[in-house]
Amino acid sequence: MFLFHRRLGIVGLAALLTTLAGAATAQVPTGDIVNGQRIADTWCGNCHVVSRSPGSTTTDSAPTFESIARMPSTTTVSLRAFLQTPHRSMPNYQLSRTELDDVIAYILTLRGR
Ligand code: HEC
Repeated sequence: MFLFHRRLGIVGLAALLTTLAGAATAQVPTGDIVNGQRIADTWCGNCHVVSRSPGSTTTDSAPTFESIARMPSTTTVSLRAFLQTPHRSMPNYQLSRTELDDVIAYILTLRGR
């Protein structure tokens, strides 16, 4: 009986570690992508093309989220810094930290591979 439980524990731990390793390699360990897309549709879609958009790079003057994601300089940190400082051309959003993480996670999914 003891042995049986022990083995279950090890299998469970292995599964957990695999999940964690998968999340780390995907580079989006935080942020709810689906919620991020919803926030982007709601708050950013007026100016930015927020979905995957082959071909186009801008609407009027705002870069598409895909082109932002593909810039070599774009990282979680750079996006957070940009979105936490006021910008002349963009409304000053008061997104919560979680909402910010979600939008950032969503934008980074557009990077492709
Ligand atoms: C009123 C129009 C407008 C809205 C709404 C808007 N943006 Fe922008 N955004 C712009 C413009 C114009 C630029 C390009 C000029 C600049 O970099 O300041 C820009 C630039 C950016 C950049 C920087 C790209 C770079 O060059 O580094 C990011 C990231 C970004 N927006 C994210 C967002 C997110 C996320 C939202 C929604 C929460 C949003 N924007 C909503 C107009 C808008």
